[in-house]
This record gives sequence, structure tokens and C-alpha cells, in this order.
Amino acid sequence: MGPPQLNIVTGAFGYAGRYIAQRLLERGERVKTLTGHPLRPDPFNGRVLAVPFHFDRPAELTRSLEGASTLYNTYWVRFAYKQTTFDRAIQNTLALFQAARDAGVGRVVHVSITKAREDSPLPYFRGKAILERALRESGLSYAILRPAVLFGHDDILVNNIAWCLRTFPTFVIPGSGNYKVQPIHVEDLAEMAVHSGHERTDSVADAVGPETYSYEKLVRLMAQAIGSKSHIVHVAPALALALAKAIGLIVRDVLLTREEIDGLMAGLLASDGPPTAKTRFTDWLKQNANTLGRRYASELARHYQSG
Ligand SMILES: NC(=O)c1ccc[n+]([C@@H]2O[C@H](COP(=O)([O-])OP(=O)(O)OC[C@H]3O[C@@H](n4cnc5c(N)ncnc54)[C@H](OP(=O)(O)O)[C@@H]3O)[C@@H](O)[C@H]2O)c1
Repeated sequence: MGPPQLNIVTGAFGYAGRYIAQRLLERGERVKTLTGHPLRPDPFNGRVLAVPFHFDRPAELTRSLEGASTLYNTYWVRFAYKQTTFDRAIQNTLALFQAARDAGVGRVVHVSITKAREDSPLPYFRGKAILERALRESGLSYAILRPAVLFGHDDILVNNIAWCLRTFPTFVIPGSGNYKVQPIHVEDLAEMAVHSGHERTDSVADAVGPETYSYEKLVRLMAQAIGSKSHIVHVAPALALALAKAIGLIVRDVLLTREEIDGLMAGLLASDGPPTAKTRFTDWLKQNANTLGRRYASELARHYQSG
């Protein structure tokens, strides 16, 4: 019998990638991570080798993938910031796919997003669709998973809704609040990813939980669960964005972008198909109400500080 199979997980010291890596290790498989933060504290006690992304050095990138049976790719950027652009993130991911092909990686599990479309006016969704097509046409064996919004320990977006509900006397909802969101637990996404990694047929699937809410309902459920006294009001999207920017200045982060508000309001964070994951947000919320949103989670601190 040879050594256990080797998997590459991008961002295994980050959020979704950490849960994917954990599951692979529990199966007795080996994990190596490609990351922008190879020196970040290792949650796996040295069991996961961390190698920097070498997006601009194809030979090294290929070498870092050699011997791997499966690549689990979570790499993407939430918004353009300073030198980080969506075009750059697309080029980097294309380089990763090319390197996977050159290294003879047998399978790619790629995390995308619900309702990715190449004709989307939103660069996040457009970029994800461009990459889905590139992977479909790459000749690699693939599974594409399309989550809507993740929730779970160490999340940023859901956590910061709760943080705002705890911190401010008023919570603003852009527009009607009727647009749908369909959150998935990060453990469920990890389970789907690892399951897909061991399949052999090409597939594309939404990764969405069993409950779909209007955004307003989601916010009110959270407010109730954490005991927030915040007054929930509806405002024009431009005012919601201005307030998000003001809060961003206070916390030295980007709380929410214009494109994220547009995507949310367009109902892009829900599936038109059946649920594919089992954990109910309401159950998780009950269990985590005491800790959720106690501290602000900073996107800039997580991704733009070295380590
Ligand atoms: N979080 C959600 O609610 C959500 C919803 C729908 C889809 N998704 C998709 O799910 C995947 C995983 O999301 P996640 O929230 O778990 O991501 P994450 O762990 O925070 O980041 C995933 C990977 O992307 C890299 N990365 C993220 N932002 C970056 C930046 N600004 N510059 C350079 N590298 C960056 C990370 O680098 P490091 O290794 O250095 O950390 C990591 O390798 C992504 O493809 C995302 O598009 C997420």
C-alpha cells in the first residue's frame, strides 16, 4: 500500500479551506495548502504543509501541485482593493488550473458562487462564471460547488451583521429587504467538497442550506436570537452604502461594497434549485447566539496583513 493520497487545499489556514482540510485529515489523507499566509498560526499542529501561492511563477506553482490527486480551490477575492483586482484573481486562478493540468492533478473541486454568470454586471459573479467555464473546458476532471452565503465559526459576513445589531441602535436594510438569501453551513460545504473530490464525474451543483429567508427575515431572526435592541429600518441602497463606508472607517475595514449590496438585492445569494445541505441556520443560530457578533471580523485584517 502506498502513502495516503495527497490533496492540495488553497487557504487551509483560512475559512472554508480549513474545514475542507480538517475533513481530509480525518479521513487519513494528506493535505498541503497553498496560501497567501504561510506563516499564519497553523490550526493543524504541523500536519498541513503550507506553501506560498506562486501565481506568477508557473514552474514553481506546478511543482507545488505535483503528486496531488485532488486540488480543492477556494481562492478568490471578495472585492477589489489596492493592487488586488478581480482581473488579477481570474488570472491567478487560470494559472492555478494550468498548473494543476501540468502537474497531472486528477481532480479539481472548485468553489464558485450561486448564480455566477458571464453577463453579470457584478465582477465577482462574472469572474466566477469565467472561471467555471475555463475549468469545464480545461480537460481536468472537476466538481464545481456554488455556495450562496456561508455561516459557521470564524465567518465574516454573518458575524458582522450580528456585530452591527449588537453595536448600533439602528440597523439599516437596503431597499425592501424582500430579496432571498440561502445560507449554508461551512461544515456542509466542506462535506460536499470532500465528497465531490472522491467522485469521478464532472459536476456543477449549488451548495445551499435547507432554509431560504428574505434578508429582512434573516436579520430579524438574528436580532431576536442575540437579544439586539437595534431598530431595524429600510433605507435607500445609497444610504446603506454610505453608512457601511462610515462604519468601515471606524473599524478600518471594508464592511460591505456597492457590488455586494447589488448582488444581495438582486437575489443572487439563493438557489433556484432544491437545498443541497442539511444544517438549518436557525438551529445553528440558537446554539451560537451567545458568541455570534461579539467581535468584529475584519476582511482587511484577514487578507491584507502579512503572516
Ligand atoms: N464566505 C462566503 O460567505 C462565501 C459565499 C459564497 C462563495 N464563497 C466562495 O467560497 C470560497 C471560500 O470563501 P472563504 O470565505 O472561505 O474564503 P477565505 O478562506 O477567506 O479565502 C479563500 C482563499 O482565497 C485567498 N484570498 C481571499 N481573499 C484574498 C485577497 N484579498 N487577496 C489574496 N488572497 C485572498 C485566501 O488566502 P489565504 O490563504 O492567504 O487566507 C484563501 O487562500 C471563495 O471562493 C468564495 O468566493 C464564499
